[in-house]
Amino acid sequence: MSQSSIGVAVIGAGMAGKAHAAAYRNAPSLYESILPEVRLVSIADAYAPAGEAAAARFGYTRSDTSWQAIAAADDIDVVSVVVANHLHREIVEGLLDAGKHVLCEKPLSDTLEDARAMAAAAERASTIARIGLTFRRAPGIAYIRELVDSGRLGKVLHVSIRYWTDYAADPGTAISWRFKGASGSGALADVGSHASYLAEFLAGDAVEVGGGRFSTAISQRPKPLGAVSGHGHSAVSDEYDTVENDDYAAFSLRFAGGAAGTIEVSRVAAGHPNDLQIEVFGELGGAKFDQSRPSEIELYLAEDSAAERGYRRVLLGSPHPYIAGGMPIDVSGVGFGQNEGFLFQARAFLEEVAGLDESVSLPRNADFGEGVHNMELLAAVAESERLSGATVRLDK
Ligand SMILES: NC(=O)c1ccc[n+]([C@@H]2O[C@H](COP(=O)([O-])OP(=O)(O)OC[C@H]3O[C@@H](n4cnc5c(N)ncnc54)[C@H](O)[C@@H]3O)[C@@H](O)[C@H]2O)c1
Repeated sequence: MSQSSIGVAVIGAGMAGKAHAAAYRNAPSLYESILPEVRLVSIADAYAPAGEAAAARFGYTRSDTSWQAIAAADDIDVVSVVVANHLHREIVEGLLDAGKHVLCEKPLSDTLEDARAMAAAAERASTIARIGLTFRRAPGIAYIRELVDSGRLGKVLHVSIRYWTDYAADPGTAISWRFKGASGSGALADVGSHASYLAEFLAGDAVEVGGGRFSTAISQRPKPLGAVSGHGHSAVSDEYDTVENDDYAAFSLRFAGGAAGTIEVSRVAAGHPNDLQIEVFGELGGAKFDQSRPSEIELYLAEDSAAERGYRRVLLGSPHPYIAGGMPIDVSGVGFGQNEGFLFQARAFLEEVAGLDESVSLPRNADFGEGVHNMELLAAVAESERLSGATVRLDK
């Protein structure tokens, strides 16, 4: 990084790549203007039209078609890696070798072995490597964490998290990288990585998982005729390919603090395009987050009088994490959503790269060690499923 500016690139111009591209564009105007100049340099995508379109749309100077071009570029300091999970390792290691700061999407990789190698590479590197577990920056979830930390909900007794999506509910949905890989690399890795990270974010370290149950509801899918982006549908051929991983996964957890929990994830839950729901139950109350209404939470406090006790709707605004002084209008009721999570995440990463004081910066993004831990938990779920639901301990 030069003294006066940070050059940014995004590798992958698909669904989440565009969210990263937009986030870097807006990050300097989130909160006070304490960042060095942020230069939007390049978006690289192996499919050239996607990179070109995203660069033009989000105001990046150029586009590239390989990660090697980004690694070799002297005018780039910070890179988001937003491609299929099995590509993360090669690209991240190459970028770290080239001296870039790296923000890698979740899950860290598609195998635990690769994830551990990436964490070792990050340890050796002199630059910063972080993972995009974006939901820790959802203001409602961060506020529930504050309620837990402050003791307002009392000791956490159990959590219930479901992340239902329906991007694969239609058997005509084209096969893509999301449907390939070992057992557990499907819905479990895709959205279960978020759910399991959030379970520990809210209830503390998990010590065991059990009851692992996977299902592949649709075992053959048509091949696409063109490029497939994100969860989007594309024209398909009449040739079919095999789905290798889970459409649905469920499991239970036990936490070090004694709490229990359940997680259920799906990509075939018809009518639920992006349905993350979290409930935390403590001795003194409970709290709920629902991604379909991201700018509010529900809160129940046992201290309320018996006549008025019940879940109340709390609109999120300036008293809550991330919002005050950041949103152009930062009062309750204005609203915000999942895209802002990428914005808060990008801002925190740029502040860390710029070396700005922790007291000015937002909390740091998760490091690769946390990314490995997240994958160890998912691997334990796959092991539980393999053992017909047996309990599997998580070694710390
Ligand atoms: N944090 C979140 O909420 C969130 C949301 C969605 C996806 N993700 C993660 O983001 C990553 C990408 O997911 P997506 O849905 O955006 O995928 P996607 O399929 O929409 O996009 C991937 C892009 O990578 C491009 N590509 C393929 N090989 C490449 C290569 N070698 N070099 C450069 N570009 C290449 C493809 O052409 C495509 O445009 C995954 O790791 C996924 O888990 C995170």
